Amino acid sequence: MDQYYTIKTSFFGNTNPQQLIEQYGSPLYVYNESILRQRCRDMADFIPYANYIANYSTKANSNLELLKIIREEGLHVDAMSPGEIYVLLAAGFRPDQIFYIGNNVSIEEMMYAVNLGITVSVDSLSQLETFGQHNPGGNVAVRINPGFGIGHHEKVVTGGEKTKFGINDDRIDDVKALIQKYNLNLVGINQHIGSLFMEGEPYLQSIRTLLDIASLFEGLDFIDMGGGFGIPYQKQDGEKPLELKLFGEQAAELLDAWASRYNPDIQFMSEPGRYVVAECGVLLGTAHARKENGGIHYVGTDLGFNVLARPVMYDAWHDIEVYPKHKRAVDSLKETVTIVGNICESGDIIAYNRQLPVISIGDILGVMDAGAYGHTMASNYNNRLRPAEVLIRRDGTDKLIRRRDTMEDLIRVFPTHTV
Ligand code: LLP
Repeated sequence: MDQYYTIKTSFFGNTNPQQLIEQYGSPLYVYNESILRQRCRDMADFIPYANYIANYSTKANSNLELLKIIREEGLHVDAMSPGEIYVLLAAGFRPDQIFYIGNNVSIEEMMYAVNLGITVSVDSLSQLETFGQHNPGGNVAVRINPGFGIGHHEKVVTGGEKTKFGINDDRIDDVKALIQKYNLNLVGINQHIGSLFMEGEPYLQSIRTLLDIASLFEGLDFIDMGGGFGIPYQKQDGEKPLELKLFGEQAAELLDAWASRYNPDIQFMSEPGRYVVAECGVLLGTAHARKENGGIHYVGTDLGFNVLARPVMYDAWHDIEVYPKHKRAVDSLKETVTIVGNICESGDIIAYNRQLPVISIGDILGVMDAGAYGHTMASNYNNRLRPAEVLIRRDGTDKLIRRRDTMEDLIRVFPTHTV
């Protein structure tokens, strides 16, 4: 048991999974504040270059209380929708700390940001045209597609030929023409090549490409290199974290060289999402059934893909820990099981063929590294209630930071319904 991540990190503070489930219900997202703050600091200090800032990518986790902590740690943010902007403002971010990276958005959405004084990035010539028509003389940023991408699954690769993102480098003259046509002020360029790399080289390569493109423009205020920093999802098998120190130093060299040649005042930004929040989150659930079918030993839980979509969407791996209901030597006996949820689809599998301590009904399971793209991708499919979220504070106490959905929430939205 002592190889467990949650034990090594004192993840649950003064409480424990059983107490948490009893108090807040199952399933339940639990976050550890100390780990979150540490990951914020890792990213804030990642590139040893004075004019560098990390913009946390809100889509990974937009819980209001976590956003407040991230703001306290000095990170700025990127937003992908008016809804994210709305929540970021509620968390206390100033408009100048928010960067709206739109993708195929309506003019109303662009104007929502513009009217708040938030910088907007457009990611096609057609969106640049729309922006220019409604904001002649305005400030704008442009998302570049550096021509290649990377990611843990093809669905999260966001650079290169086969993606809908960004403007290719062979269209730079068209960008310049539109900027001129509408008298726009191009304040920055940005990119994002994809999600989850465990080595620095592809990111460094994308910085080189972006800097080459940046030198074709004059008067930029910032260059945003994007996110994608991975975390080790297979810690139980000894997977190591991303080596940030050398990586950051190599990035700083590139930035320094470019800035001293072209523009010493330029600001550089990154957009980490997963790295900041993944490891501070554990999803707890309960085993409700066991069954053997076709030689497969299933453990049936309340951890359906409505709660955590990543395994079903991307075949993603999450380490699992077992917290037995009744004290026993959990490690002594192991078995191979497939962990499934309670949703009406055969694909509702959270972990295939795992060697785990024998699980009994009533035991609690912990799904590791669930802080990123966990609750933000949860849904009410099968009219299930999205889980509560709880924070383990630095003093070890726990605090509810989002209530579980209620049954009333399921019908509140229907105009014909009167409560
Ligand atoms: N910037 C932009 C423009 C993005 O689209 C994203 C993520 C990020 C930054 C942050 O990327 P990160 O540092 O978190 O890798 N749902 C998938 C990941 C989708 C990422 C979408 N864009 C997953 O669960 O793996």
